[in-house]
Amino acid sequence: MEVIIKPSAESAVKLTAELIGDAVRMRPESVLGLATGRTMESLYAELSRMCREEKLDFSLTRTFNLDEYIGLSGDNINSYRYYMNYHLFNNINIDKRNTHLPDGMADDVIAEAARYEDEIEFAGGIDIQLLGIGSDGHIGFNEPLSSLSSRTRAKSLTPETYEQNSPLFDNPDEMPKRAFTMGVGTILDARRIIMLVTGAGKADILSKAVEGPLTAMITGSAIQLHPNAVVVCDEAAATKLVGRKYYDFVFQNEPEWEPYR
Ligand code: F6R
Repeated sequence: MEVIIKPSAESAVKLTAELIGDAVRMRPESVLGLATGRTMESLYAELSRMCREEKLDFSLTRTFNLDEYIGLSGDNINSYRYYMNYHLFNNINIDKRNTHLPDGMADDVIAEAARYEDEIEFAGGIDIQLLGIGSDGHIGFNEPLSSLSSRTRAKSLTPETYEQNSPLFDNPDEMPKRAFTMGVGTILDARRIIMLVTGAGKADILSKAVEGPLTAMITGSAIQLHPNAVVVCDEAAATKLVGRKYYDFVFQNEPEWEPYR
């Protein structure tokens, strides 16, 4: 795993967008695993700008989102399908038929989860999986105690996640208590992982996930198992990282990062 600490949230977002943009330029039919949440809003704004102003071409790109609320249809303003259309898909030249999220309205949740896994496999697997991290350490909606080898399934959310996300609903009581989420095992199958973490509120959980023990209590710690994972964060989120001197040294010296310094 590598950790790149940028001076501001804006520069962390910009680097993450450049990494994704370069991957799409190199392989236009890339399969991107996408996340939602507040952290990603400025990233999607930047990718939208790159498409508009720099002609970054998403016409062949395919996407799979990490999660979707159970009980919300795609036209519900709080669904992740709505979020993705609003923040990204409507603003870039992607073919919406190539964009995938679990169907929050599926009658049979077990069949829907299996269908989603099959679709990812049929697409050849995920090239780059974008992740945020929740205040309880979740990735996707893999809440504490999720198996580190779990696959896509329906999951009950924690009270902490409820507290984190319900203010985004006009009526917080309408936030579903369950969601579909790719499993930790599904996420770890991606060929590359990029985790974007910004803001002082994430400093504690970020240090636990990156430098603490591997534990199902903090599913974000599972990225320690991945052979090609990079965490991009801002100064505010990095304040509790004890190894930051080394992380900066790697970023300054590894040839891979030269184009991004
Ligand atoms: C949502 C997702 C979540 C978020 C996490 C952080 O698709 O994958 O794991 O990344 O809850 O959310 P924000 O960015 O709102 O703090």
